[in-house]
Amino acid sequence: MKDLFEKIRERRGPLGQYSKQTHGYFMFPKLEGEIDSRMKFRGKEVLTWSLNNYLGIANHPEVRKADAEAAAKYGLALPMGARMMSGDSNYHQQLESELAAFVMKQDAVLVNFGYQGMVSAIDCLVDRHDVIVYDAEAHACIVDGVRLHLGKRFAYNHNDMESLEKLLQRAEANVKDTDGSILVITEGVFGMSGKQGKLKEIVALKKKYNFRLFVDDAHGIGTMGKTGAGTGEEQDVQDGVDIYFGTFAKSFALIGGFLAGDENMVEYLRYNMRSQIFAKSLPMPVVVGALKRLELIRNHPEYKAKLWEIVNALQSGLIKAGFEIGGTQSPVTPIYLNGTVPEATNVTFDLRENYGIFCSIVVYPVVPKGIILLRIIPTASHTLQDVEYSIKSFSEINKKLKAGEYSREKMAVI
Ligand SMILES: Cc1ncc(COP(=O)(O)O)c(C=O)c1O
Repeated sequence: MKDLFEKIRERRGPLGQYSKQTHGYFMFPKLEGEIDSRMKFRGKEVLTWSLNNYLGIANHPEVRKADAEAAAKYGLALPMGARMMSGDSNYHQQLESELAAFVMKQDAVLVNFGYQGMVSAIDCLVDRHDVIVYDAEAHACIVDGVRLHLGKRFAYNHNDMESLEKLLQRAEANVKDTDGSILVITEGVFGMSGKQGKLKEIVALKKKYNFRLFVDDAHGIGTMGKTGAGTGEEQDVQDGVDIYFGTFAKSFALIGGFLAGDENMVEYLRYNMRSQIFAKSLPMPVVVGALKRLELIRNHPEYKAKLWEIVNALQSGLIKAGFEIGGTQSPVTPIYLNGTVPEATNVTFDLRENYGIFCSIVVYPVVPKGIILLRIIPTASHTLQDVEYSIKSFSEINKKLKAGEYSREKMAVI
């Protein structure tokens, strides 16, 4: 028998095994200064393309004022206790009804963290008689929610409607025996590829099959649809989305999130979601801060328009410069390059140290071997000059990568 701590000393995990070489630079880097398109990394200014501050409101003066005043007035402790027991407030309720209206649903319930909220909502909506059918490339929070499920679960090939339909047929056969129900789960916008979930096609399948649709729209809220209500609005099927999830961690530049849908379903979540029943309520400054952000998002469509101006310039510019961006349909902009993991570290190093560009770089096992993915997140606080400079820099980097310049040297030493 092995001592648990001995075991984890030897097995560090897929990312942890590299912690000695990567910590503080490639992983756990510290971006300092005000949240903006330019921040400091290791004392030097960098152009940041890795923050999900899509609408650029993180440092809006009204946001900063509302956050500061709420913190001064209420402190971070209030309310004390879980919502259900002693932690409710008028502000929490007001935020829920305003969020519900924003995403065109009857009601909404707050969750303290998007990730845990998703896991917990999946856990409480289904029981062992039910079947979950979910997209094979779904976010970890969906995968982990599904892992708690005691009944059958089927993963359909990513965005593949034929595969989904086949699995819906299997699911129907299964629930006939168990007298259960079917829940289909997808993302609105897939956070790595930027592709949209095929909500329109999935909703159309409801005519043939009896299921409820749960959409994780973490990247879609605030960025997609005419009013920013998300990917369902973008595809004109918001009514067909039965359970809508939005996080505050991206467009809202905050923390927390919410689930929305019809009154009955939300009431059920409110009384059954274990992550909220057995955890302290969101602090008052977060709730008041979220109300301010929602007000700005609703009243200033120009933030989303500016975001899309940058997105369109960036994506069309990259395509024109010959880059492969994989058919993204959202602000999330992946740039697919060919290279090894050591080359990726050298690319990152060169970008940060010599070009002053900070972006996330994704390598195997998240993407296939031989692919280097530069994950670019445009925001409303970027400028067209930032776009132009970055495309020029990426082109130079790619030329060096193709010429083998990054493989000649050793892995960047940090
Ligand atoms: C698709 C998706 N779902 C859920 C989450 C989790 O949200 P949160 O950061 O609010 O926990 C994220 C990432 O933040 C995400 O990208």
